[in-house]
Amino acid sequence: MRTLSILLILLPAISCQAQSLIGVTLPAPNKERGLTVMQALALRASATDMDTSMLSVNDISDLLWATVGINREESGKRTAPTALNAQEINLYLCSAEGIFLYLPKEHALKLIVTGDHRKEVAGRQEKAAEAPIFLILTADLRRFPFGDDERRKLWAAMDAGIASQNISIFCAGTGLSTRPRATMNSETLHELMMLDEKEILMLNHPVCN
Ligand SMILES: Cc1cc2nc3c(=O)[nH]c(=O)nc-3n(C[C@H](O)[C@H](O)[C@H](O)COP(=O)(O)O)c2cc1C
Repeated sequence: MRTLSILLILLPAISCQAQSLIGVTLPAPNKERGLTVMQALALRASATDMDTSMLSVNDISDLLWATVGINREESGKRTAPTALNAQEINLYLCSAEGIFLYLPKEHALKLIVTGDHRKEVAGRQEKAAEAPIFLILTADLRRFPFGDDERRKLWAAMDAGIASQNISIFCAGTGLSTRPRATMNSETLHELMMLDEKEILMLNHPVCN
Protein backbone atom coordinates (compact mmCIF):
# COMPACT_ATOMS: atom_id res chain seq x y z
CA MET A 1 0.00 0.00 0.00
CA ARG A 2 2.85 2.34 0.98
CA THR A 3 4.65 1.56 -2.30
CA LEU A 4 1.45 2.29 -4.21
CA SER A 5 1.05 5.67 -2.49
CA ILE A 6 4.68 6.62 -3.32
CA LEU A 7 4.15 5.56 -6.92
CA LEU A 8 0.96 7.63 -7.19
CA ILE A 9 2.83 10.68 -5.86
CA LEU A 10 5.77 10.17 -8.23
CA LEU A 11 3.80 9.27 -11.35
CA PRO A 12 2.84 12.83 -12.44
CA ALA A 13 6.46 13.97 -12.00
CA ILE A 14 7.74 11.01 -14.03
CA SER A 15 5.21 11.47 -16.84
CA CYS A 16 5.92 15.24 -17.05
CA GLN A 17 9.62 14.64 -17.56
CA ALA A 18 10.53 15.17 -21.22
CA GLN A 19 12.07 12.16 -22.92
CA SER A 20 15.75 12.47 -23.80
CA LEU A 21 16.48 12.53 -27.53
CA ILE A 22 19.94 11.04 -27.04
CA GLY A 23 19.91 7.50 -28.44
CA VAL A 24 16.13 7.58 -28.91
CA THR A 25 14.54 5.33 -31.54
CA LEU A 26 12.16 7.51 -33.53
CA PRO A 27 8.76 5.91 -34.19
CA ALA A 28 7.72 5.52 -37.83
CA PRO A 29 6.11 8.74 -39.06
CA ASN A 30 2.34 8.88 -38.76
CA LYS A 31 1.21 9.79 -42.29
CA GLU A 32 -2.48 9.84 -41.39
CA ARG A 33 -2.51 12.76 -38.97
CA GLY A 34 -3.27 16.44 -39.39
CA LEU A 35 -5.75 18.82 -40.94
CA THR A 36 -6.45 18.98 -44.66
CA VAL A 37 -3.92 20.85 -46.80
CA MET A 38 -6.37 23.75 -47.25
CA GLN A 39 -7.08 23.98 -43.52
CA ALA A 40 -3.34 23.98 -42.78
CA LEU A 41 -2.75 26.71 -45.36
CA ALA A 42 -5.56 28.75 -43.86
CA LEU A 43 -3.94 28.52 -40.41
CA ARG A 44 -0.27 29.01 -41.37
CA ALA A 45 1.23 32.01 -39.59
CA SER A 46 4.60 32.81 -38.02
CA ALA A 47 4.28 32.35 -34.27
CA THR A 48 5.18 35.14 -31.90
CA ASP A 49 4.60 33.39 -28.54
CA MET A 50 6.70 30.45 -27.40
CA ASP A 51 5.36 27.55 -25.31
CA THR A 52 8.43 26.21 -23.55
CA SER A 53 7.20 22.64 -22.97
CA MET A 54 9.11 19.88 -24.80
CA LEU A 55 7.53 18.29 -27.87
CA SER A 56 6.66 14.59 -27.79
CA VAL A 57 8.93 12.14 -29.59
CA ASN A 58 6.03 11.33 -31.91
CA ASP A 59 5.70 15.00 -32.89
CA ILE A 60 9.46 15.28 -33.42
CA SER A 61 9.53 12.12 -35.53
CA ASP A 62 6.67 13.32 -37.75
CA LEU A 63 8.12 16.84 -38.00
CA LEU A 64 11.53 15.59 -39.17
CA TRP A 65 9.98 13.30 -41.74
CA ALA A 66 7.63 16.01 -43.00
CA THR A 67 10.58 18.39 -43.46
CA VAL A 68 12.98 16.31 -45.57
CA GLY A 69 12.09 12.65 -44.95
CA ILE A 70 12.15 9.96 -47.63
CA ASN A 71 8.66 9.55 -49.09
CA ARG A 72 9.60 7.21 -51.96
CA GLU A 73 11.70 4.31 -50.74
CA GLU A 74 12.50 3.05 -54.26
CA SER A 75 14.24 6.27 -55.34
CA GLY A 76 15.17 7.73 -51.93
CA LYS A 77 13.46 10.97 -52.92
CA ARG A 78 12.17 13.31 -50.25
CA THR A 79 9.10 15.22 -49.05
CA ALA A 80 10.92 18.39 -50.23
CA PRO A 81 12.23 18.61 -53.81
CA THR A 82 15.78 19.89 -54.45
CA ALA A 83 17.36 21.35 -57.58
CA LEU A 84 18.99 18.54 -59.60
CA ASN A 85 17.83 16.19 -56.81
CA ALA A 86 21.08 17.19 -55.07
CA GLN A 87 19.48 16.62 -51.62
CA GLU A 88 21.91 19.18 -50.27
CA ILE A 89 19.64 20.38 -47.45
CA ASN A 90 20.70 18.93 -44.10
CA LEU A 91 18.31 19.08 -41.17
CA TYR A 92 19.57 19.56 -37.62
CA LEU A 93 17.63 19.66 -34.36
CA CYS A 94 18.86 21.81 -31.48
CA SER A 95 17.42 21.17 -28.00
CA ALA A 96 18.62 21.75 -24.44
CA GLU A 97 20.52 18.46 -24.77
CA GLY A 98 22.55 19.20 -27.86
CA ILE A 99 22.51 19.47 -31.63
CA PHE A 100 21.49 16.42 -33.65
CA LEU A 101 21.70 15.64 -37.38
CA TYR A 102 18.62 14.01 -38.92
CA LEU A 103 19.51 10.92 -40.98
CA PRO A 104 16.67 10.45 -43.50
CA LYS A 105 17.66 6.90 -44.58
CA GLU A 106 17.66 5.66 -41.01
CA HIS A 107 14.90 8.08 -39.90
CA ALA A 108 17.10 8.71 -36.88
CA LEU A 109 18.83 11.49 -34.99
CA LYS A 110 22.61 11.50 -34.56
CA LEU A 111 24.04 13.60 -31.74
CA ILE A 112 26.81 15.83 -33.08
CA VAL A 113 27.40 18.25 -30.19
CA THR A 114 26.23 18.16 -26.57
CA GLY A 115 25.06 21.12 -24.49
CA ASP A 116 22.36 23.75 -24.74
CA HIS A 117 23.20 25.97 -27.70
CA ARG A 118 19.71 27.41 -28.30
CA LYS A 119 20.99 30.93 -27.53
CA GLU A 120 23.28 30.71 -30.56
CA VAL A 121 20.32 29.75 -32.74
CA ALA A 122 18.15 32.51 -31.26
CA GLY A 123 20.88 35.09 -31.98
CA ARG A 124 19.89 38.69 -31.31
CA GLN A 125 16.22 37.64 -30.88
CA GLU A 126 17.08 36.33 -27.41
CA LYS A 127 13.53 35.40 -26.39
CA ALA A 128 13.41 32.76 -29.13
CA ALA A 129 15.91 30.71 -27.08
CA GLU A 130 12.96 29.66 -24.88
CA ALA A 131 11.69 27.39 -27.64
CA PRO A 132 12.10 23.72 -26.67
CA ILE A 133 13.62 22.87 -30.05
CA PHE A 134 14.88 24.54 -33.19
CA LEU A 135 15.16 22.92 -36.58
CA ILE A 136 18.18 24.22 -38.48
CA LEU A 137 18.44 23.93 -42.25
CA THR A 138 21.89 23.94 -43.85
CA ALA A 139 22.90 23.46 -47.47
CA ASP A 140 25.94 21.41 -48.44
CA LEU A 141 26.92 23.09 -51.70
CA ARG A 142 29.31 20.25 -52.59
CA ARG A 143 26.33 18.02 -53.42
CA PHE A 144 25.47 19.94 -56.60
CA PRO A 145 27.08 18.08 -59.53
CA PHE A 146 27.89 21.33 -61.36
CA GLY A 147 27.46 25.13 -61.20
CA ASP A 148 29.57 27.95 -59.75
CA ASP A 149 29.14 29.04 -56.13
CA GLU A 150 26.68 31.81 -56.99
CA ARG A 151 24.39 29.41 -58.85
CA ARG A 152 24.70 26.76 -56.10
CA LYS A 153 23.75 29.29 -53.40
CA LEU A 154 20.72 30.33 -55.42
CA TRP A 155 19.53 26.72 -55.76
CA ALA A 156 20.25 26.14 -52.06
CA ALA A 157 18.15 29.17 -51.06
CA MET A 158 15.21 27.89 -53.12
CA ASP A 159 15.55 24.39 -51.65
CA ALA A 160 15.85 25.63 -48.06
CA GLY A 161 12.72 27.75 -48.59
CA ILE A 162 10.78 24.70 -49.71
CA ALA A 163 11.89 22.61 -46.71
CA SER A 164 11.03 25.57 -44.47
CA GLN A 165 7.52 25.68 -45.87
CA ASN A 166 7.14 21.94 -45.17
CA ILE A 167 7.87 22.75 -41.52
CA SER A 168 5.36 25.60 -41.44
CA ILE A 169 2.59 23.60 -43.09
CA PHE A 170 3.22 20.54 -40.92
CA CYS A 171 3.02 22.72 -37.80
CA ALA A 172 -0.13 24.50 -38.97
CA GLY A 173 -1.76 21.17 -39.75
CA THR A 174 -0.90 19.53 -36.44
CA GLY A 175 -1.43 22.31 -33.91
CA LEU A 176 2.25 23.15 -33.39
CA SER A 177 3.72 26.66 -33.67
CA THR A 178 6.74 27.77 -35.66
CA ARG A 179 8.41 30.72 -37.35
CA PRO A 180 10.97 30.69 -40.17
CA ARG A 181 14.05 32.67 -39.13
CA ALA A 182 17.22 33.74 -40.87
CA THR A 183 18.50 35.30 -37.63
CA MET A 184 21.11 33.17 -35.81
CA ASN A 185 24.76 33.38 -34.81
CA SER A 186 25.85 31.69 -38.01
CA GLU A 187 29.62 31.87 -37.56
CA THR A 188 29.50 30.46 -34.01
CA LEU A 189 27.09 27.71 -35.03
CA HIS A 190 29.16 26.83 -38.09
CA GLU A 191 32.17 26.23 -35.87
CA LEU A 192 30.19 24.52 -33.11
CA MET A 193 28.53 22.13 -35.55
CA MET A 194 31.89 21.40 -37.20
CA LEU A 195 30.49 22.09 -40.67
CA ASP A 196 32.57 22.01 -43.83
CA GLU A 197 33.17 25.47 -45.29
CA LYS A 198 30.88 24.51 -48.18
CA GLU A 199 27.98 23.65 -45.83
CA ILE A 200 26.18 26.89 -45.07
CA LEU A 201 23.51 27.81 -42.53
CA MET A 202 20.29 28.82 -44.26
CA LEU A 203 17.28 29.08 -41.94
CA ASN A 204 16.05 27.93 -38.57
CA HIS A 205 12.62 27.27 -37.07
CA PRO A 206 11.77 27.34 -33.37
CA VAL A 207 9.02 24.72 -32.96
CA CYS A 208 6.67 24.75 -29.96
CA ASN A 209 3.54 23.09 -28.65
C1 LIG B 1 13.41 33.74 -45.37
C2 LIG B 1 12.73 34.24 -44.12
C3 LIG B 1 13.49 34.73 -43.09
C4 LIG B 1 12.87 35.18 -41.92
N1 LIG B 1 13.65 35.58 -40.87
C5 LIG B 1 13.07 35.95 -39.71
C6 LIG B 1 13.87 36.31 -38.59
O1 LIG B 1 15.09 36.28 -38.64
N2 LIG B 1 13.23 36.65 -37.46
C7 LIG B 1 11.87 36.67 -37.36
O2 LIG B 1 11.35 36.98 -36.28
N3 LIG B 1 11.08 36.34 -38.40
C8 LIG B 1 11.66 35.98 -39.57
N4 LIG B 1 10.87 35.62 -40.64
C9 LIG B 1 9.40 35.59 -40.49
C10 LIG B 1 8.75 36.77 -41.22
O3 LIG B 1 8.96 37.95 -40.48
C11 LIG B 1 7.27 36.48 -41.40
O4 LIG B 1 7.12 35.35 -42.23
C12 LIG B 1 6.54 37.66 -42.00
O5 LIG B 1 6.41 38.70 -41.04
C13 LIG B 1 5.14 37.31 -42.50
O6 LIG B 1 4.37 36.80 -41.43
P1 LIG B 1 3.64 35.38 -41.57
O7 LIG B 1 4.71 34.33 -41.74
O8 LIG B 1 2.88 35.20 -40.30
O9 LIG B 1 2.77 35.45 -42.78
C14 LIG B 1 11.47 35.17 -41.81
C15 LIG B 1 10.70 34.69 -42.88
C16 LIG B 1 11.32 34.21 -44.01
C17 LIG B 1 10.46 33.66 -45.13
